[in-house]
Amino acid sequence: MVPEGSIYLGSGSDSGIAQGLKLKYANRHGLVAGATGTGKTVTVQIMAEAFSAAGVPVFVADVKGDVSGLSQPGSLHPKLEERAAILGLSDYAYAGSTCAFWDLFGTMGHAVRATVSDMGPLLLARMLNLNATQEGVLNIAFAVADEEGMPLLDFKDLRQMLVFVGQHRKQLSLSYGAISTASVGAIQRALLTLQRQGGDQFIGEPALKLTDLMRTTAQGRGVINVLSAETLMTAPKLYAAFMLWLVSELFEELPEAGDTDKPKLVFFFDEAHLLFRDAEPGLIEKVEQVVRLIRSKGVGLYFISQNPQDIPDRILSQLGNRIQHALRAYTPGEQRAVRVAADSFRPNPAFDTEEIITQLGVGEALVSTLEKKGVPSVVEKTLIRPPQCRMGPITDAERRAILAASGLGAHYDTALDRRSAYEILHERMAQADDFGNEESRDFEDQLRYEADRGRRSHAGYGATNTGDSTGGRRAGGMRYSSNRRRRSSRSDTIGEAAMKSFARSMSSTMGRELSKSLARGLLGSPRRRSSSRRRSSSRRR
Ligand SMILES: Nc1ncnc2c1ncn2[C@@H]1O[C@H](COP(=O)(O)OP(=O)(O)OP(=O)(O)O)[C@@H](O)[C@H]1O
Ligand SMILES: [Mg+2]
Repeated sequence: MVPEGSIYLGSGSDSGIAQGLKLKYANRHGLVAGATGTGKTVTVQIMAEAFSAAGVPVFVADVKGDVSGLSQPGSLHPKLEERAAILGLSDYAYAGSTCAFWDLFGTMGHAVRATVSDMGPLLLARMLNLNATQEGVLNIAFAVADEEGMPLLDFKDLRQMLVFVGQHRKQLSLSYGAISTASVGAIQRALLTLQRQGGDQFIGEPALKLTDLMRTTAQGRGVINVLSAETLMTAPKLYAAFMLWLVSELFEELPEAGDTDKPKLVFFFDEAHLLFRDAEPGLIEKVEQVVRLIRSKGVGLYFISQNPQDIPDRILSQLGNRIQHALRAYTPGEQRAVRVAADSFRPNPAFDTEEIITQLGVGEALVSTLEKKGVPSVVEKTLIRPPQCRMGPITDAERRAILAASGLGAHYDTALDRRSAYEILHERMAQADDFGNEESRDFEDQLRYEADRGRRSHAGYGATNTGDSTGGRRAGGMRYSSNRRRRSSRSDTIGEAAMKSFARSMSSTMGRELSKSLARGLLGSPRRRSSSRRRSSSRRR
């Protein structure tokens, strides 16, 4: 078959030459592309089970539920037997792999959670659909929380922090620039919307430990982590933000690995185009950076997409191992896509790549992987091997059995609510006599008005982009100017005093040590200092 140190993908449909993927180059990333129904998911399954067998843990997003079949042995099928015979697989057998199921909503798998400060302002802004002005205000809320040593763990904390920022916008504006109540209100509304979609399930503690994604079994096989993403697909921004968060966490947390004989973790992103849909150039640039650098941490990223053109060029060009299933070429746009896909391969004199892409059968693909010195192999038309696992979803009972036996439930299945910004701010408010002063009441009035206005004019997710500092402020300001209580200089003094007592009170909390160590990484997730990371930090910049 394939030489030691490679995983077997399939064999040349005409040439019969075995096609492997060198484990040593598996961290040079990859692409699995093809039109619907051409065999992408099964290809991901055969790769995942082969990585697992080689002792490499895997993370895979399950968009349609059918990836979950990895956990069960396949059942005898003449087509599979026939394929195995053509490929000369003498030891073909049906077998499931050890899988761990995860779910952002905590129902189809163990709950995956990240704290607000883990997420960081950049990804959170994307999750909340914020515009630039609103994102600026969110950044201020993070900065103030960092400075004041207030842990932002869940949405409650963030909401309360935003109220605080709104209340003290005058003082804060001096250091951070203008803060409008309309922007604060818009963020609060966006948080509400996300909460209603269940997004807050995923924000909080206990936060996911990355080591739990990098487990091997007693037999030395890599555990396959399956993220149930069926429901998640209804909130694509949440999906994208989560996946990007996970990758940036891995990047920040893992030590430099150098050249290894196999990757430490392999990651499959299904529906990869969602990661980049409507992403601003700044974000794409950062993702590109992470993709480029995470290789040295021993992590391989595999993007799965119907059309490779959905993935930005700068990222596409870094995907060294490619499996291209059939594409259709009816419309001029499709024909262009076929040409681009064909051009990305090192040509094989035996056939015309462009022509073959449209003629590939189901479970057949053009394959090119990195060979000696990381040079791509000549493209080969390949019959992909049959999977050992089930092709298709598992039953609820099968899933429940795996969840019950995983040993992860005790840690992840119950949410925690530690003392954090929300509780601290409430205590402060209760302590400071006059804390709920005119300015804050005024602010809350306005917030309520903003929320009302948002509900009236825009239902749904899109509403989060309204009510920025220009449009919203005028309406809010006019309506509320008559209600506004006369401002005395007193309110500023009280505000200042509150800020001071606030800062003092923070000295004892765990928040302080947290805040000290908070330095925001590439995608805005906090960088927890450790010796290994400090060593690598110069390289990151
Ligand atoms: N390597 C393979 N060996 C045997 N059968 C295969 C293989 N690849 C694909 N098939 C067959 O093709 C069917 C469709 O494949 P698959 O579900 O992987 O397509 P897909 O590209 O993921 O489609 P979609 O875009 O709709 O998710 C499978 O259910 C299976 O019957
Ligand atoms: Mg599929």
